[in-house]
Amino acid sequence: MAAFEIHDADLVKLKDQVVLLTGAASGIGLGTVKLLLEKEAYVVAGDLNEMPIQHDRLTFVKTNVTDWKDLSSIFKAVKAKYGKIDHVFANAGIGSKTTYLDEQVDENGDLLEPNHLTYDVNLKGVVNTCALAIHHMRRQESGGSIVITASASSFQRFRTVDYTTTKHAVLGFMRGIVPLLQPSIPIRVNCIAPSWTSTGLVPEGAVEQLAGIGIQTPAVVARSVAVLMADDQRDGQLIYSVQGRYIEAEGTLLKAAAEIVGDQNEDLVMAELMKARSDFGSAKQDGS
Ligand SMILES: NC(=O)c1ccc[n+]([C@@H]2O[C@H](COP(=O)([O-])OP(=O)(O)OC[C@H]3O[C@@H](n4cnc5c(N)ncnc54)[C@H](O)[C@@H]3O)[C@@H](O)[C@H]2O)c1
Repeated sequence: MAAFEIHDADLVKLKDQVVLLTGAASGIGLGTVKLLLEKEAYVVAGDLNEMPIQHDRLTFVKTNVTDWKDLSSIFKAVKAKYGKIDHVFANAGIGSKTTYLDEQVDENGDLLEPNHLTYDVNLKGVVNTCALAIHHMRRQESGGSIVITASASSFQRFRTVDYTTTKHAVLGFMRGIVPLLQPSIPIRVNCIAPSWTSTGLVPEGAVEQLAGIGIQTPAVVARSVAVLMADDQRDGQLIYSVQGRYIEAEGTLLKAAAEIVGDQNEDLVMAELMKARSDFGSAKQDGS
């Protein structure tokens, strides 16, 4: 496993970089805002709630990530103010809303559609944030980088079903988009996978009492976000953070996958698939 350390010197590149974050008013987002300001970045923070801190390099834009117009507006606000967006942190997230066993029924006893808010915030909100980031960054010569908040539940069993599904899905989004962007579009996409962290989502004390395991501060996680922004060699990575230790997990996960499926050349497979599709399409058109 690729454990590594993050030194202050690794983060100096963030000075004067323009960063847009969602879920910035609390927990991991707020911890990241504080670190970025310490490193003299310009920060545009989106959240449903006002920022609890103020700073001359910090701008708050009230944003609901489930609302496309809101999201679109915060990107436009950054461009209008700074003329560029160097990094985006798609971080806003909420906890589980259903177990799928907690059946809600209507007056006829028919099952109601489950609550999908966790998908709207943690998945659609993240994907839409990334889509807007790509839209703006691909028009910049310098490109940019995106960091997505995944989770340790992105790659293991965890019984908050809807939450776990969204966290698997955002890791899947990174795995799908990275090969599409590189090498022609200079946008890097990475994920973080924080272990238990004391935030609005996980109140300090709860986890320690429940499981006897440690809980880290958002400041620890913030450094994993910052290094993914600052280090332009990092692309398609998943950094697990736990108690001040950092592990790049994606290499190990992809190696395990390659052991199952063997060495497949994705470029070749996609080229053949595209050719088969166009052959099929032209055959249908000429009736053959
Ligand atoms: N705390 C942990 O142990 C832990 C572990 C792994 C991953 N995460 C992830 O970290 C991310 C941040 O969560 P946190 O733990 O810091 O919790 P938090 O509740 O402290 O922070 C989440 C922030 O997101 C904001 N938010 C929620 N819905 C929003 C919406 N629709 N639009 C805009 N903002 C919205 C909230 O107002 C809040 O400020 C989430 O994606 C969460 O899944 C947390």
